[in-house]
Amino acid sequence: MLEGKRLLLIISGGIAAYKCLDLIRRLRERGVHVRCALTRAGESFVTPLSLATVSGEKVFRDLFSLTDESEIGHIRLAREPDLVLVAPATANILAKMAAGIADDLATAVLLATDRPVMAAPAMNGRMWEHPATQANVARLAGRGVHLIGPEEGEMAEADEWGTGRMTEPADILAVIETFFAGAGRLHGRRAIVTSGPTYEAIDPVRYIANRSSGKQGHAIAGALARLGAETTLVSGPTHLPDPVGVRVVNVEEARDMLSACKTALPADVAVLAAAVADWRVAKPAKHKIKKDAAAGAPVLKLIENPDILASLSTATAGRPALVVGFAAETGTVVERAKRKRLAKGCDWIVANDVSSGVFGAETNTVHLVTAAGVEDWPPMTKSAVAQRLADRIADALEGVPATPTS
Ligand code: CTP
Repeated sequence: MLEGKRLLLIISGGIAAYKCLDLIRRLRERGVHVRCALTRAGESFVTPLSLATVSGEKVFRDLFSLTDESEIGHIRLAREPDLVLVAPATANILAKMAAGIADDLATAVLLATDRPVMAAPAMNGRMWEHPATQANVARLAGRGVHLIGPEEGEMAEADEWGTGRMTEPADILAVIETFFAGAGRLHGRRAIVTSGPTYEAIDPVRYIANRSSGKQGHAIAGALARLGAETTLVSGPTHLPDPVGVRVVNVEEARDMLSACKTALPADVAVLAAAVADWRVAKPAKHKIKKDAAAGAPVLKLIENPDILASLSTATAGRPALVVGFAAETGTVVERAKRKRLAKGCDWIVANDVSSGVFGAETNTVHLVTAAGVEDWPPMTKSAVAQRLADRIADALEGVPATPTS
């Protein structure tokens, strides 16, 4: 499965760097062509000679080296591999990646690459837990960088325990194997994902909205794209970066979201994760509504928005083979979701309990409701939910003819 794959391993300066030698050996045993780029700090922990010996390749170190650049430039180094892996990824290199700093060969490659990137963080537990590191990691994950670990355990410093150990080479290898096994499973498929809230205008400056962050929908779009689907993300206003490899259509109102979805058809799968406003103001004011003591507070008449999920699910022509809705529920979550699946005519409902702290959070506990029954998924990060859902979608579409594009 890994035979013939090309991997660029970027080694930054952490004590775990010595484990790379074992990782390279395992990768090469499986036929992977491994090239190494080593940072200056990395050289303090593992020598270029040992990396060159184990990888059987020249080790790249210097952005401005005449020989490095004349043999293979950093742009080619960035574009040639099937996968770029940063291991160990120190707090410093993660910060540079998040900020887009390119002050050495390794970071220049990371900024120039259009290939999938994985990072296996390794650092002291306090450094990992620091809000700066956590913010950097969240930013990178939002951009589609696949994080492996870190694990909990004894730190390099005597008597210290915490989360920050680099994932063991055998486990990193397993993640890489899963990645390549999945890559391309949705190749030739088209996907539409909705995400975020909608803003419904009251007047030119005010609107009705909700607390959706868009994290789950954006993560799903990224996961489908990573499996090879040509993915259109129709998103309401969010603060999130566009997921890598996804075509993003930004909208504000529910009606625009519906028409953008219709324009993006045909598709094999539609995952409607947006928190669409159920109602909009019947007649938004053309001018800013002014306070008027005599008239009192304005009364807003609301009318129902189109239901995008129901509309795509019941379309007679061009219905995607698989339509997946979300149900944000409180109380009897699964029962309500089952009813919603039938009422809206979609194939699956991903149900989540929003009675406490889901909006904007990193984790989610969901139930997948299908015609076959209900699966309770354990609590996991929104990106893990996205990955699992994308895998399930790929399973479900297996053997289903791809939707013709014209
Ligand atoms: N949805 C949609 N268009 C709407 C409202 C909802 O596409 N106008 C989709 C959401 O993206 C989600 C699913 O319908 O996939 C369920 O949304 P939810 O808000 O839970 O359900 P509602 O239909 O709004 O029902 P209620 O609020 O009464 O539970």
